[in-house]
Amino acid sequence: WLFASLMYAQQNVNYDESKVPSYVLPGLLQCENGKVVSTIEQWETQRRPELLELFTSQVYGCKPEGKIDVTYEILTENPGALNGKATGKQVKFTFSNGKKKTEAILLLYIPNKPAGKVPVFVGYNFKGNHSTTSDTTVLYSPVFHLVKEPDHPDWERGNQTSRWSYDKIIDRGYAVATMCYHDIYPDKPELRNHSIVSLFPDYNPDTIVPDEWQAIGAWAWGSSRIVDFLETQERIDSDKIAIMGHSRQGKAALWAGAQDDRFRIVISNDSGCGGAALFRREFGETIDIINKNFPHWFCKNFHQYNNREEILPVDQHQLIALIAPRKVYVASAEEDLWADPKGEFLSAYHAGPVYLLYGLTAIDSDKMPQLHKPIMGDIGYHIRAGKHDVTEYDWECYLDFADKHFKN
Ligand code: GCU
Repeated sequence: WLFASLMYAQQNVNYDESKVPSYVLPGLLQCENGKVVSTIEQWETQRRPELLELFTSQVYGCKPEGKIDVTYEILTENPGALNGKATGKQVKFTFSNGKKKTEAILLLYIPNKPAGKVPVFVGYNFKGNHSTTSDTTVLYSPVFHLVKEPDHPDWERGNQTSRWSYDKIIDRGYAVATMCYHDIYPDKPELRNHSIVSLFPDYNPDTIVPDEWQAIGAWAWGSSRIVDFLETQERIDSDKIAIMGHSRQGKAALWAGAQDDRFRIVISNDSGCGGAALFRREFGETIDIINKNFPHWFCKNFHQYNNREEILPVDQHQLIALIAPRKVYVASAEEDLWADPKGEFLSAYHAGPVYLLYGLTAIDSDKMPQLHKPIMGDIGYHIRAGKHDVTEYDWECYLDFADKHFKN
């Protein structure tokens, strides 16, 4: 993050609210043929599919036809994990097309109390399962050596524990499932051949077609494969699955939530450009910047909107609206200007009409709430003090939001 912000510090990154261009958001309820949706049925059969198609072909890319095999192997099971409070499992996922395979490891903690089925948070980690806890039995990601030099500090156990409030999550009666995102698509353009993308029929290592999926599409797909596994777990309540993604994983979480309705709560933490933030504000990171720094995240078609946000046929309030009537929560951090907190808030606000169509609540004011005053309706939002990160405060809000929707 620092690197990217520094790289562009000298260039035209706008952090001045008065320089946000005036813009018109593409219509949420108006179909391409001009008709305005007024019923849930019209939304679900006409406008929603239209928007989903646009996000697929113009932004995140299209999952190829055809299937690959996914198998699971329980590698470890520890009924006394987290000081006896949880059962920990590590599960190897093998993705294969019969000729070639890749592997990933899921780390799952299920609270020992209460007995019976529990809701679950699913979320990728950035630095390996080993980074989320100091538990020495937690295995390293099978591809970590591809992305981090052997002496890199990220090999240290527990280097991201502050982002994973396991004790709090377990104490509140939730399971939590995490996987290193590199296991699905190692996050460097030159590692495409090591990603699950490379297993699909028609994959060509030398070319990328304009609407072909890339890393964000792959990460979203991978989180749905975690759900497939969770559905096999007796202790997991598969009607109560939340996905939480931070930053680039917040982008992938929203995209996963838009496509897979098994995610009943979708949480975007500081997801910024390509996540919750409205592109048309051109505040902080922009389409041009993100495509140049991360050419392997979005589909190739998306690059035609570099510095031309006004002709992009969608904007991110529409992505959030695709999650309705399921619950969505957007979170920002005050100092995270790169991610445009106001743009993140406004897209949650402008998704409202679709929630209202379902008889649900929308955010009722376009004024941002104060710091640490979360909005907890069917669309949730908070902004907290501090930097780009996942903190205990963020988790407390997500747990409150999940309690509200899963436990009442
Ligand atoms: C970079 C990138 C952001 C992204 C972030 C992250 O800062 O520019 O778009 O969200 O990394 O994933 O932490």
